[in-house]
Amino acid sequence: MPVISLIMWGLLAAEPFTFERSQTFLQNYCAKCHTGKAAVGGFKLERVNTQASLETESRPWKSAITRVQNGEMPPKGSPAPALEEREQFVGWTDQALRSVACATGPVAGPAVTRRLNRDEYAATIRDLLEIHLDIAKALPADGAGGEGFDNAAETLFVSPLHSEKYMEFARFATDFAAKEYKSRSKIFVVQPGPGRPPRQAAHEILKSFLPRAFRRPVTEADIAPFLSLYDAAVAQGQMFEPAVLFAVRGILVSPGFLFRMEPPNAGPGPRPLDSWALASRISYFLWGSMPDEMLRDIAAAGKLHDPEVLRRLVRRMLSNDRSLDFAKSFTEQWLRTRELGAEKVPDAKLFPTYATDEELRGDIRFQPILFFREVLVRNMPLLDLIDSKYTIGTSNLEKHFDVKLPLLATARKQPQWVELPEGSRRGGLLGMPAVLAVSSYPYRTSPVLRGAWVLDSILGTPPPPPPPNVPSLEDASNPASAKTVRERLTQHRENAVCASCHSRIDGLGFALENYDAIGRWRDQDAGKPVDNSGELADGTKFHGPDQLKKTLLERKDLFVRNLTRRMLGYALGRGLSLKDSCTVDAIVAKLKENDYKSQTLIEEIVVSMPFRYQREDRK
Ligand code: HEC
Ligand code: HEC
Repeated sequence: MPVISLIMWGLLAAEPFTFERSQTFLQNYCAKCHTGKAAVGGFKLERVNTQASLETESRPWKSAITRVQNGEMPPKGSPAPALEEREQFVGWTDQALRSVACATGPVAGPAVTRRLNRDEYAATIRDLLEIHLDIAKALPADGAGGEGFDNAAETLFVSPLHSEKYMEFARFATDFAAKEYKSRSKIFVVQPGPGRPPRQAAHEILKSFLPRAFRRPVTEADIAPFLSLYDAAVAQGQMFEPAVLFAVRGILVSPGFLFRMEPPNAGPGPRPLDSWALASRISYFLWGSMPDEMLRDIAAAGKLHDPEVLRRLVRRMLSNDRSLDFAKSFTEQWLRTRELGAEKVPDAKLFPTYATDEELRGDIRFQPILFFREVLVRNMPLLDLIDSKYTIGTSNLEKHFDVKLPLLATARKQPQWVELPEGSRRGGLLGMPAVLAVSSYPYRTSPVLRGAWVLDSILGTPPPPPPPNVPSLEDASNPASAKTVRERLTQHRENAVCASCHSRIDGLGFALENYDAIGRWRDQDAGKPVDNSGELADGTKFHGPDQLKKTLLERKDLFVRNLTRRMLGYALGRGLSLKDSCTVDAIVAKLKENDYKSQTLIEEIVVSMPFRYQREDRK
């Protein structure tokens, strides 16, 4: 979880916190259990009592702020700091650790060894064999790790179920490919003929197929085990083609195919990634699949580390259809809209149009994905994600919004980039039903969930997890008096403990109350006019979505930093370290210089130190 203090955006009175105050904080709340011989849990205040320790002891510092941020330390029953003091401590320490870590500039990360996740696996099979089969769903889902994405090395282990499925798919895919002209020609680049004995043909086939499957040049030693598979099949009486397909199957279940493995760096010091590994990093980042011929050619020519080549390449790759996979994977995880239709299903009785109209559901789900991709392809500013004059429209969405859209008369059902009329209230991500539905309950809106969603997905300052045993709104409210959600929440915020969190969460969500749980506009809730007034803990007041977006844009640094952080974590397929924050800071500075142009984000990530370099492997 990114730890960025609310102080940074002026939610809290920023009385300057200092190193001395951090020490007072630790003495007041932690010393009892974490000093001297009696120190418990392996955490000793003596290790973190100097300025220098911010550099030399970043690990215990880091775990201290994590435990404090999550409200785990000090443990229940001990004198505890107020939330405000807690966040000041966390915010100051995080900032101090970062600036110390950044003094030496961006650094390279570890080499990658990880399994293709299920979407990458399916896309790679598709591109390698030129077959169109939707096999992703049949594989077990991958959990999220790192910065919250399912491509993080930390979580991509192989279970027995995976091995079984891979065998099954390899057979299925090769059988299928053998029947299709296009994929046959991808495999059978030569046939045995006069002057080319079958075994030699098999060798040539493997020699051409294997570098594409392994995404790197291969040696005779790489080919040998698969040629042995061919030999074994022939020895069992198989004909040429089935014997070759047997060997191909072997390739599809081998680690060289299933894993992305970057050659280790024996050192000394960091070094540029080898061209093939870099080609894979780029193509799995922007296409979610293996490098194509163009990328392989550039890698072979040794040009892939040239920043100018990389920038041009990024633009070309983004405008290719394949970047849709990237947009889908990134957007749905960043915004959590992947949960729609899975964990989050709007109630069918309350929202029959949504439940029965599959086309509408598809349009709703794809709107943020296509919008995000279009912003990238058109190199629009990232701030358009907060508010924009355009959106992705279809005739279904037009009806859902109850706003007339200038759709192409000949293709009204097709998703398209449309200009929004004045006052549509549909600009940016916050006007999208997918986002509004995923931050609601199935049967009603929740300003709390929406506020928490904005804090997390947009601002990157997620609220601390709620304490256990909080009664639900329904149980707590007095059924005798029908109340709106706002009235019920106001009661909670009269309690100081609850208010410490809810005064900063709920205000953001209230401004979105004009959208119902599936994102339709409404002027009334429970028979009363919707009160869409919101307020931040610092007293900033606003009404409705347009003013909320304005308020968020006034805090655009937080949004841009959050998005950069997530995108870098996604691109690297791992959680970010303290040192990576320097790269994030540098990219944010570039974005500012470039009017927040969206392609700048992707280009700067691809040319960055952690993306292009690997550190020495420490044994
Ligand atoms: C009442 C005693 C008590 C107080 C007060 C207390 N802790 Fe702890 N702390 C523990 C115990 C017991 C553990 C070991 C169990 C655990 O990890 O939860 C622990 C573990 C930790 C760890 C884990 C070390 C690691 O490497 O994971 C950190 C960090 C920590 N405490 C920080 C703090 C900080 C910071 C404070 C003050 C804000 C604090 N603690 C206050 C009892 C205390
Ligand atoms: C440490 C921060 C924190 C504190 C303190 C806190 N909450 Fe929450 N609360 C949250 C978060 C975060 C959520 C959203 C949970 C989610 O994402 O599912 C939440 C959700 C809720 C909800 C569900 C909202 C809905 O629409 O149904 C209610 C009700 C609630 N809290 C009431 C309370 C009450 C009452 C107190 C005080 C006794 C309290 N909370 C204290 C953080 C907090």
